[in-house]
Amino acid sequence: MTATLTSTPAVVRTIAEIRAAIRAYRAEAGATASVGFVPTMGFLHEGHASLIGRSAQDNGLTVLSIFVNPLQFGPNEDFERYPRDEARDLDVAARAGADIVFMPSVSEMYPTSAATQITVSGVTERLCGASRPGHFDGVGIVVTKLFNIVQPDRAYFGLKDAQQVAVVERMVADLNQPVQIVPCPIVREADGLAMSSRNVYLSADERREALVISRTLAKVPAWIDSGMNAAQLTAAVREGISSSPIADIDYVETLTYPALQPPAPDAPVSVSDGRIIVAAAVRFGRTRLIDNILISLPEAQPL
Ligand code: PAJ
Repeated sequence: MTATLTSTPAVVRTIAEIRAAIRAYRAEAGATASVGFVPTMGFLHEGHASLIGRSAQDNGLTVLSIFVNPLQFGPNEDFERYPRDEARDLDVAARAGADIVFMPSVSEMYPTSAATQITVSGVTERLCGASRPGHFDGVGIVVTKLFNIVQPDRAYFGLKDAQQVAVVERMVADLNQPVQIVPCPIVREADGLAMSSRNVYLSADERREALVISRTLAKVPAWIDSGMNAAQLTAAVREGISSSPIADIDYVETLTYPALQPPAPDAPVSVSDGRIIVAAAVRFGRTRLIDNILISLPEAQPL
């Protein structure tokens, strides 16, 4: 199935239907079949569209799921008010090249409360894992269920949620889930704000102030070049974000990626081997935004 600008994706709401649709595609495409999968919670924007577009390029069939997963929201989080707009989502999905949109109800996904838990340790110790207890258990169970339902060859995840990518990659490796995880770059608004379904919560004033996050993170490469160690880098980013009077910082951390552990404390970050992430979660009013910058340091210099 090759998507065109005008094709409308098939909408399916039950597990039986999505399994039947994928079975039919595989039977028809034979040995050349490849299924790409993009899991989302909807209220789609260009960040989601980039994942769908990438999947449509790489695969014969692209399946998009839209499911606001109650298990990954804490009791005082925004599950109830999370933005939803089915008609608009289907339009974005069609334009981006999705072939099938799977939109199950909560009772279809969780007919009984799941007794099975998926807890990925280590990579969930810090960042959102620390500030949103249980969040990644909820992600682990829903992503595993969706993988088992769709059985994709490849699944596409955005580095906007870099810790989620690390968690899913680790889960897939540990459990031998037969899917290739494809991490995709962060898509930003023209002024730098990382796209997010939650950006609609921001007032005009908060939206303007929120730019401080991406503007500060953009300085990280220069700060690394100037020889800062991890603590100095974290402090500089914290100070930069604090220049907004309404920025309420949840966390700013400098960690290795994908292990998400602190790098050597005193050495300049530029001598680290591998990848470093500087990640921030910041509240503007009631809205919590996350963003990060991932830096490859392949040419580590000896001390
Ligand atoms: P959601 O927040 O809807 O995001 C779905 C996918 O889109 C994730 O892989 C996310 O990283 C990616 N994404 C969001 N904003 C992006 C941006 N600005 N640039 C690039 N990619 C972006 O993440 C989830 O849903 C859920 O946790 C889910 C994986 C669906 C499990 O419920």
